[in-house]
Amino acid sequence: MSERPALGTLKSECDTPLLCIDLDAFEANVAVMANYFRQCDVDWRPHSKCHKSPIVAQRLMAAGAIGATCAKLGEAEVLAAGGVEDILIANLIVGRRKMERLVALRRICDPIVCIDHLDQARQASEAMREAGLKLRVIVEINIGLQRVGVSPDHAALEMAQAIQRLPGLELAGMMGYEGHLLTIEDPTQKAAEINAALSLLGDVKKLWAQNGIAAPIVSCGGTGSYRIAGAHPDINEIQAGGGVFMDAFYQQVCQVADHQLAMTVLTQIVTRHGAEHAVIDAGRKSINQEIHAPFVHRRDDIRVGPLSAEHGQLELHGQAQQLKISDRVEIVPGYSDLTSVLHDAFYCFRGDRLEEIWPLEGRGRLQ
Ligand SMILES: Cc1ncc(COP(=O)(O)O)c(C=O)c1O
Repeated sequence: MSERPALGTLKSECDTPLLCIDLDAFEANVAVMANYFRQCDVDWRPHSKCHKSPIVAQRLMAAGAIGATCAKLGEAEVLAAGGVEDILIANLIVGRRKMERLVALRRICDPIVCIDHLDQARQASEAMREAGLKLRVIVEINIGLQRVGVSPDHAALEMAQAIQRLPGLELAGMMGYEGHLLTIEDPTQKAAEINAALSLLGDVKKLWAQNGIAAPIVSCGGTGSYRIAGAHPDINEIQAGGGVFMDAFYQQVCQVADHQLAMTVLTQIVTRHGAEHAVIDAGRKSINQEIHAPFVHRRDDIRVGPLSAEHGQLELHGQAQQLKISDRVEIVPGYSDLTSVLHDAFYCFRGDRLEEIWPLEGRGRLQ
């Protein structure tokens, strides 16, 4: 059985592969985001899909977040058990078994659930009415991602009115996700397209208001768009979360500036053959490469080559050709949350010393 390194252990003495957090970088990123949202006067409900940890959620709340966002009921249960009370499940929850669990969750905290179809609303309403409870729900609006959501027109009004007629539900507002616009290269065009998409939420809010329906929450926002979303006049809650960790996708494709690379996978060279070739002990089961290619932290003389399940090939140039078996190489994930979930815990270093371990408690809670 592998052993967890004791707190205080030097990074160079920890076994690999190891999912690492640089605490100074993490804290700097948290401060950048929290300060920005404070300046914009919007609430921050950071998505927990990368960390899946009540410890991290509580840390972000201590920095100013109002609660947490998650994607699954099982993750919300883990967050609630860890003392997080104000949780947005930014997803659609259906089925008898899930309704029973949603009732149990509502008894211990005050979650919010998305609705984009009347059948979901009816299921939740019936479960809450039978239990004598009220559940906060928000209408998910399709602002162009074409994933889920009602269209931002009369359909959104009809959905809100239908929810208001159902017992056991409290209409708390709306959300949209502009995930299809994060990768637009030209910053002016990106801002214009995101602002236009988010204004669709503003249009729905106005339509609701004309019909006497309030929207206390108007939520959206990812790491790749949070500066634009936070400044948008119709938005009052932001879900961006992954930026506290950062990754290659956010940095290189979404052009997120002012954030440090806080999350890496520490690996070790297991073999060398030829001047340019090395193999590390981490492949696709330690480092996801689906959304964006990973790269080597603080070295431009090593290129990450093909990854197989448990082997990672490196292409060495210049000084890197001196690297030997057992030398350490730190990899920045292409996309943080598809990499974090391959690991049991984050090992958090202050400088070179292990200071904290954050288990990914919600990992595998896919139901
Ligand atoms: C509903 C929703 N909100 C927000 C986000 C953004 O999260 P992050 O800032 O961690 O990239 C996502 C990303 O997939 C999402 O699906």
